[in-house]
Amino acid sequence: MNVVILAAGMGKRMQSALPKVLHPLAGKPLLSHVIDAARALSPTTLCVIYGHGGDAVPNSLAAADLVFAKQEPQLGTGHAVAQAAPHLDDAVPTLVLYGDVPLIASSTLQRLIDSAGKDKLAVLTVDLQDPTGYGRIVREHNGERRIVSIVEQKDATPEQRTIHECNTGIMVAPTAQLKKWLAGLSNNNAQGEYYLTDIVASAVADGTPVVSAQPAAVAETLGVNSKMQLAELERIHQRSIAERLLEQGVTLLDPARLDVRGTLSCGRDVSIDIGCIFEGEVSIEDGAVIGAHCVIKNARIGRDANIKPFCHIEDAVVGAASQIGPYARLRPGTELGEDVHIGNFVEIKNSQIAAHSKANHLAYVGDATVGSRVNIGAGTITCNYDGANKSRTIIEDDAFIGSDSQLVAPVRVGKGATLGAGTTLTKDAPEGKLTVSRARQVTIDGWQRPVKIKK
Ligand code: UD1
Ligand code: CA
Repeated sequence: MNVVILAAGMGKRMQSALPKVLHPLAGKPLLSHVIDAARALSPTTLCVIYGHGGDAVPNSLAAADLVFAKQEPQLGTGHAVAQAAPHLDDAVPTLVLYGDVPLIASSTLQRLIDSAGKDKLAVLTVDLQDPTGYGRIVREHNGERRIVSIVEQKDATPEQRTIHECNTGIMVAPTAQLKKWLAGLSNNNAQGEYYLTDIVASAVADGTPVVSAQPAAVAETLGVNSKMQLAELERIHQRSIAERLLEQGVTLLDPARLDVRGTLSCGRDVSIDIGCIFEGEVSIEDGAVIGAHCVIKNARIGRDANIKPFCHIEDAVVGAASQIGPYARLRPGTELGEDVHIGNFVEIKNSQIAAHSKANHLAYVGDATVGSRVNIGAGTITCNYDGANKSRTIIEDDAFIGSDSQLVAPVRVGKGATLGAGTTLTKDAPEGKLTVSRARQVTIDGWQRPVKIKK
């Protein structure tokens, strides 16, 4: 099958410099949702018609399986599909999709394709309570009530405007005929455009059967023309993601306060509190608990881990039974072993921390390799950057890092070593010993506080 996705429109009502189809829904451009639905059908050709916004659309979505055809100027939906004609294989049918209708399900498309077979024109239609603005499906008054044409709102008679069955714009057509019908379109209508919808009357005139199919849900066919509609579709989409998670047994404290912008996979007995955002690929293993208002991107959260509220986790792995936060930040390259505790205002970057180690308060651990059962005291900082290069800090098993220490990398703290509080470590600390660098404490006898001189 050939697929043509119409995406040349400007989307004036978005009030944005970004082409409409590149606005994100669930963290992904509208057009990418449509492309993914099309890909699920394994098309032979996947052609995107673009126009407004210069080359922003092909530049940002280029992929080996996509061809882009430019439509300039934009003279209507029929004219748009005609731009794809040279790319379309006559031996297979052509499916037309809209780049601004993101929630279309591939199962619905498959049904439409099946109803079209090899030689029929199939139109995806919906019954709308308020059909204002849509093209209406005109059927015979009697007999089989076959489709005879589609009439646009602006061209419709008052009687036709009472029709509730609407054209979603999504169609499947036999390709050789489609090319012929497109070549015969005229723009003699209320909008002076070449309407794709006029191919229905051409098919009827040719004796090509015109059939219809309906989507599983109306939301699949809703388009985005404004930020309001974009926000509405985002909520509909998020609601369906939340419902899928609930069906799998995930506890969501409020399904209306969850945002998944990517793929979230959860094991058994996972619980997610309100206000969390999941981006990219996130997996949460059995029994893990995610507290309120966490942002988690491209991460794996291990079994029975407890992520307390307000954590930010990106490109990181959290080991089983670990406790993170509240207010912790795990930056890219963080790998935590089992039962690691990372407390409030602790930032970890590009570091491995092995089992049972703790950094409970106010620390920066960057470019470090930390062993097991290490205790990193409050205020500890790995000085990993000299202004030009990054260096590593190595902290071996069972080390104890006193509060407010600075570890000036490259540096190593040996097995079981202790750093006294306030140490600025510039040379390796040998294993099993206390290392401390600070001025000795003195007490001055007979010292007196200055007093204010009276004038
Ligand atoms: C179209 C249909 C209408 C249907 C409605 C569903 C026609 C003539 N009308 O109307 O029957 O009920 O969609 O939403 O087809 N586009 C281009 N190039 C163009 C014009 C449009 O790529 O020259 C793209 C737009 O970016 C958009 C889609 O085609 O993605 C539909 O265009 P739009 O102008 O929204 O069509 P409607 O007037 O709403
Ligand atoms: Ca529209």
